[in-house]
Amino acid sequence: MGLSIEASRMIPWKEIDRAKIPGNEGEVILLVRDQEFSIRTAGTELMNSRIHGSEESLAELACSRLDPNANWQILIGGLGMGYTLAAALEHANFDTQILVAELIPAVVKWNQEYLGHLAGRPLLDPRVRVIEEDVVKAIGEKTSAWDAILLDVDNGPAGLTQKANDRLYGNLGLKASFDALRPGGILAVWSSGVDEAFTRRMTLAGFKTKIVSVRARKSGKGSKHTIWLGKRP
Ligand SMILES: C[S@@+](CC[C@H](N)C(=O)[O-])C[C@H]1O[C@@H](n2cnc3c(N)ncnc32)[C@H](O)[C@@H]1O
Repeated sequence: MGLSIEASRMIPWKEIDRAKIPGNEGEVILLVRDQEFSIRTAGTELMNSRIHGSEESLAELACSRLDPNANWQILIGGLGMGYTLAAALEHANFDTQILVAELIPAVVKWNQEYLGHLAGRPLLDPRVRVIEEDVVKAIGEKTSAWDAILLDVDNGPAGLTQKANDRLYGNLGLKASFDALRPGGILAVWSSGVDEAFTRRMTLAGFKTKIVSVRARKSGKGSKHTIWLGKRP
């Protein structure tokens, strides 16, 4: 049994590890207090183990739009603490294959060493393969290949922490995702906020787009996050 939320908040954060972000001057830091973990960069929290409802919704909403009897090919970028991956596995058939592209090798290592238990050790599932590279590269490598591409690589299309993620969310990036999906495939994008310009770009790229507002926590509490679901017709 862990401490209550109030009691654990009195405990100072302890740094477990830190690592450089490839292709960037920045660093990512892994912190712990009691049973709560936090991944941070440049003063921004990328992911916290107490709040993961909308990260799970990202996978659930996309999977609910796929043929339940088919074996899916799913691409996820990035890994974070593995909650999106675990939710996709829960909905996927036995022969589904999920490729996770994670930019920061240390995040993969942290999942193997410290964080795996949080989401039920999804990296150990035989349906999963993880590659340590930019998801932009994985998207560009195949056409008409994926049933779903799930993107939660930043705070959203505004790309607060990684300027380079504009390549994913700009017109060319969205066209690349469109081409990488099979007809009927779904591009699902997580964001901390709404972004009307991004909705217009999704439509311009050819997606039939739906915007869903979800709560940060599965309890229905917490701030509201936005998920775009774009279907390649
Ligand atoms: C907010 S976290 C993802 C949280 C995840 N959905 C979960 O359920 O825990 C963002 C992750 O994307 C990774 N990332 C950032 N830019 C990336 C990129 N271009 N390609 C792949 N991974 C990226 C970060 O290192 C981080 O692990």
